[in-house]
Amino acid sequence: MASRVIPVEAFDLVVFGGTGDLARRKILPALFKRYCAGQMPGPSRLIGAARSEFTSDDYRDFVRPALKEFGEAEEGTSLEAFLNQIEYVTIDARGSTGWQELSTLLEGHDRIRAFYFSVGPGLFKDLAERLHGYRLVDPASRIVVEKPFGRDLETARALNKVLCRHFAEGQIYRIDHYLGKETVQNLMAVRFGNMLFEPLWNAQYIDHIQITVAETVGVGGRGAYYNKAGAMRDMMQNHLMQLLCLIAMEPPAQFEPDSVRDEKLKVIRALSSVEPHHIVRGQYTQGDGVQGFREDVDDPRSKTESFIALKCHLSNWRWASTPFYLRTGKRLKGRDSQITVVFKDAPHSIFGPDAGRHNNELTIQLQPNEGITLDVTIKEPGQGGMRLIDVPLDMSFAEALGPDADAPGAYERLIMDVIRGNQTLFMRDDEVEAAWAWTDPIIKGWEARGDVPKPYDSFTSGPDTAQQLMRRDGREWRGIDP
Ligand code: BG6
Repeated sequence: MASRVIPVEAFDLVVFGGTGDLARRKILPALFKRYCAGQMPGPSRLIGAARSEFTSDDYRDFVRPALKEFGEAEEGTSLEAFLNQIEYVTIDARGSTGWQELSTLLEGHDRIRAFYFSVGPGLFKDLAERLHGYRLVDPASRIVVEKPFGRDLETARALNKVLCRHFAEGQIYRIDHYLGKETVQNLMAVRFGNMLFEPLWNAQYIDHIQITVAETVGVGGRGAYYNKAGAMRDMMQNHLMQLLCLIAMEPPAQFEPDSVRDEKLKVIRALSSVEPHHIVRGQYTQGDGVQGFREDVDDPRSKTESFIALKCHLSNWRWASTPFYLRTGKRLKGRDSQITVVFKDAPHSIFGPDAGRHNNELTIQLQPNEGITLDVTIKEPGQGGMRLIDVPLDMSFAEALGPDADAPGAYERLIMDVIRGNQTLFMRDDEVEAAWAWTDPIIKGWEARGDVPKPYDSFTSGPDTAQQLMRRDGREWRGIDP
């Protein structure tokens, strides 16, 4: 299946934090891949900006190995040609160094300007003020900001206020990279492109929905950040919340930024508060050649969770009485992200008690091995009466779409959307604030109670209590594939 590259206009993308980990691993390789796909028009430039005293040549030498390691780049003309479109300015976000140079570099080039804030939120205000002070932005310029967008409602509001002082909401692109994943967008295609599912997509036919984002990795080198964040702030408040929105929202009138974001916002606002006994927090312990969470974050008394599972409800007409079970964690037994929609049993079984109980399950596998599986009940082949079994109607996207199907990575898609000026896959200020408004009381409750996460062995499914969260409702988590 041939991919279609939609051309974009020429641009200058300035990456503040251009020597940081995110730039090296994600932003620069993503842009290189789009360059190779023919989507970086000739005069466009990437301008790295950071404190390191590099020349543009030094920066190219810094970028080259990153592109090889994370961007599948090989020595050759494409790599060198791409590097030639890169510049660098030494800049002090809090001072005056480099701003005039940046201004000179941008001056006289009539093209889209995008400024990527790949820095901690503590620098947003300084960057925004200087971009304006040095007159580097016009109404068509845009800024891109990364998560974490605050650490609670108050800090998120303060950040929004700072950014809105200098930029219109239509210029602010808040990234949640889960929204850039191919399969996450497929959630919308499956729901709103097929007549088959939508009529059944409600509390009358759906018993419950479960969302799992499991990782095998630990906190890596991000111990200091993660020990302050935990799984609730790092994953639940944003990535899982976005998945919940896409699976539960009403059909938007159009696939267009505000229509989609209005519907997502309604979902977040419909979330009921979560009972403390409907939440399980966990913390991985050492095992199988890896150290435990407390060693990883260098805090022997850490009360931060590396795993969270919870049950929540949406107080609206479509979903009243359908529970949503969400779980995410690090050092689990597999890297496995999936959403399972479990349909109710048939109202009456004509086959008698021996046939057993069966229901349909639709699983959307987000990563790895993207695809969709629908469990369908059929007769077990052979003699011996009408015995029923569930078999999967299995569709792996890689098999169905063939080897040429081109799925750009999340950052590739999102950066190009920034240049195109399409905010559909970015979070709006009210969405982020609503997500914090739901998360805050949960975290404050733990703090007030001195809640300590339950230890779990590394490379398992998390604490046993997470299984009990489902079992006491007569349900089971779908297994995490190792
Ligand atoms: C990031 C989190 O936003 O998402 C990380 O900060 C997490 O802790 C990562 O590992 C997971 O992303 P992906 O794309 O690997 O599922």
